[in-house]
Amino acid sequence: MAPMAGVTDLPFRNICRKLGASLATSEMITSDMSLWGSKKSRQRLAHGNEASPRSIQLAGSIPEIMANAARENVRQGAEIIDINMGCPAKKVLKRAAGSALLQDEGLVALILKAVVAAVDVPVTLKIRTGWSQENRNALNIAIIAEDAGIKALAIHGRTRACRFLGNAEYDTIASVVEVLSIPVFANGDILTPQDAKQVLDYTGAAAVMIGRAAQGNPWIFKQINSYLDQGVTPNEPSNSEVVNVISSHIEAIHKHYGTHLGIRIARKHVGWYVNALSDGKEFRRQFFQLEDPEEQIKSLYKFFMGTTIKWNKAA
Ligand SMILES: Cc1cc2nc3c(=O)[nH]c(=O)nc-3n(C[C@H](O)[C@H](O)[C@H](O)COP(=O)(O)O)c2cc1C
Repeated sequence: MAPMAGVTDLPFRNICRKLGASLATSEMITSDMSLWGSKKSRQRLAHGNEASPRSIQLAGSIPEIMANAARENVRQGAEIIDINMGCPAKKVLKRAAGSALLQDEGLVALILKAVVAAVDVPVTLKIRTGWSQENRNALNIAIIAEDAGIKALAIHGRTRACRFLGNAEYDTIASVVEVLSIPVFANGDILTPQDAKQVLDYTGAAAVMIGRAAQGNPWIFKQINSYLDQGVTPNEPSNSEVVNVISSHIEAIHKHYGTHLGIRIARKHVGWYVNALSDGKEFRRQFFQLEDPEEQIKSLYKFFMGTTIKWNKAA
């Protein structure tokens, strides 16, 4: 599963892992440890109660600070450190981290070497295909990464300048796969098991990484695994499976964030689950008015066990 700030928190990672994602990286966390006291950062740091391998993503641009942050996360239980050089978010770019770093190959090398030297767990890297259409330097960065001791490389098939516009392209990813010996994960616009197979076949990548298509649809991992292993997509999940997965996800959210914040974050995820249904609008409206965690759970059972689920798309 691709790291997504505001989406791939601990409760959602646990659900996706149970449903077949073999690796689920945390939301990015700043390498600036002075900010880790905030509630938001504390909730994003490594957690001992997550299934192995626990992968924490760091964002930052100062080698020693990244190295210290990596060390501290390993002390707290991280088993993989992932470095974010793929995020175009303004907040990150202002501090010259994320995909902005792709412009400065010398600094990329320094950061990667510093982090690799600081920890004795695998360090992975996530990038885009380059800084802009004219500067698709993924191949240079990939070679720098392998030389620095990076153990796996995820590539989102867009440049930083593309943000989320247009379609992802997989030619750059294929050219990196050809040159590197470490595993490459192909990412971008993979929405179905068939997409996953096509991208794997086309790029030769070791794995696919799924982001937005998992929002409200964690079953996608099971479906992709089944399609890749056996060539068939399993039946859509039954009502009871759907409601059991969603309610255990929502209960985990209540526990992780506490009641006040948990109720609000639960609304966001239930909104995504319901978006995948063709007749969920009225339920969504009612759910968003609930202010009590138990009421949220009860209403999920009432809705999902009393309806014929009609998925908008293959779920
Ligand atoms: C809401 C959102 C938050 C994201 N946050 C991160 C992040 O924290 N770190 C990161 O490396 N990429 C982040 N990304 C990029 C995704 O990991 C992924 O590369 C991108 O969504 C393309 O994959 P997809 O087409 O499967 O969604 C984010 C994307 C979205 C939509």
